[in-house]
Amino acid sequence: MNVLTFPLARHEDGRGWFAELVRASALPKPIRQANLSRSRQGVIRGLHYHERGQDDLFVCLEGMVRVVVLDRETGETFTEDIGDDNPVAIYIPGTYAHGYEALTDCLGEPRRARRPLGRRARPAPLEHDIADSLDTRRVAVTGAAGQLGCALAEAFSRDQAVLPLTRQDWDVTMPAPQLGRLELVLHAAAWTDVDGAEADPQGAAAVNVGGTQHAAELGAPLVCFSTDYVFDGEKRTPYVESDAPNPRSVYGRTKLNAEAAAGDEAWVVRTSWLFGWTSTNFVRTMLRLGAERDEVAVVDDQRGCPTYVGHLAEAVRALVELPYGVWHLAASGECTWAEFAEAIFDEAGLDCRVRGIASAELGRPARRPAYSVLRSEREGAPVLPHWREGLRACLERL
Ligand SMILES: NC(=O)c1ccc[n+]([C@@H]2O[C@H](COP(=O)([O-])OP(=O)(O)OC[C@H]3O[C@@H](n4cnc5c(N)ncnc54)[C@H](OP(=O)(O)O)[C@@H]3O)[C@@H](O)[C@H]2O)c1
Repeated sequence: MNVLTFPLARHEDGRGWFAELVRASALPKPIRQANLSRSRQGVIRGLHYHERGQDDLFVCLEGMVRVVVLDRETGETFTEDIGDDNPVAIYIPGTYAHGYEALTDCLGEPRRARRPLGRRARPAPLEHDIADSLDTRRVAVTGAAGQLGCALAEAFSRDQAVLPLTRQDWDVTMPAPQLGRLELVLHAAAWTDVDGAEADPQGAAAVNVGGTQHAAELGAPLVCFSTDYVFDGEKRTPYVESDAPNPRSVYGRTKLNAEAAAGDEAWVVRTSWLFGWTSTNFVRTMLRLGAERDEVAVVDDQRGCPTYVGHLAEAVRALVELPYGVWHLAASGECTWAEFAEAIFDEAGLDCRVRGIASAELGRPARRPAYSVLRSEREGAPVLPHWREGLRACLERL
């Protein structure tokens, strides 16, 4: 087979190691893209081939992985264990099907080389549509640059072929482009500026309602994400799926209408107070303010469930094995924003006081529910870890 193996000299002693990862001059084609993935032991990743012939170079930075290659025409196979015990890079021509299995917890880095002939007039709109899965399900993720979209793409790409779609790839206010066969659509793109929606209800509806309708038109089972803000917050016990929505903000109304636009073959996930390691969110804002100030003022008259996107993404993996319909998926436990801020400073070791204030003092354009704790009453509903556990998991990645 036409697979090339390059030794990677590694110089190591008790202090650590130093190694060359790639020597571009030794490769048949120039490098176009570099990806890095962390995989737990047993994970099988990236089983695919490239119809348009992009080549891959596999390097395992830490741990051991088993690279597998298949010549689809002759049926010939190649496999090699690479990493700590065998520091080599494997160069695989793109027409071969290939992937790898993590033999230990590990870091791996496939690098992609460009087709040698010609040059596209402009970059392909979807870099990731070049990966055509063999047995894996093709899963599209909209809003892939957002905090939840990132987490979903990461969680599902462990064993499925993920097509991450940013706004540049597809503005969801427009009908969907041709995306090929899809087994699942995770629709995380949304207008999430709650106050901004009050000033531009039509803009918010175009993204949230129109966008969901377009996502449903892709014709694959759909997961769409809704919010605790569909409730008015008058209750003092957790909201369950059978409670009647009564949104008090434009954003909440567009999300409720989006639930209806998702259609019948959809899981509608109501979740709340999301935070993750990317984008702007409460945790990242508090970490910044906590490092700059001695005191911050935070509202203490809204109670909900701060939900870590990593935990939500894992719950969504479990959810898609369950029946369609509305599901409440939010972190266990509950708190106010002020209590959440205190926990952030506590866990991050920041010496910053939290002064509790009333929502009215902030004078924000959109009304938020005073109480929006979400729980599921549905049989077999995935249970998420406590929000404080989510906070710790998030801080580890920041
Ligand atoms: N954040 C929360 O606290 C919360 C709570 C409950 C439910 N939810 C729901 O959870 C889902 C994910 O929220 P999130 O926190 O991950 O939001 P986010 O970080 O704001 O991400 C939303 C993504 O949607 C993209 N987007 C906006 N308009 C678009 C358009 N017209 N076409 C294509 N993409 C567009 C944004 O792209 P740009 O970056 O280019 O704008 C962004 O990457 C949403 O449905 C949201 O309503 C969120």
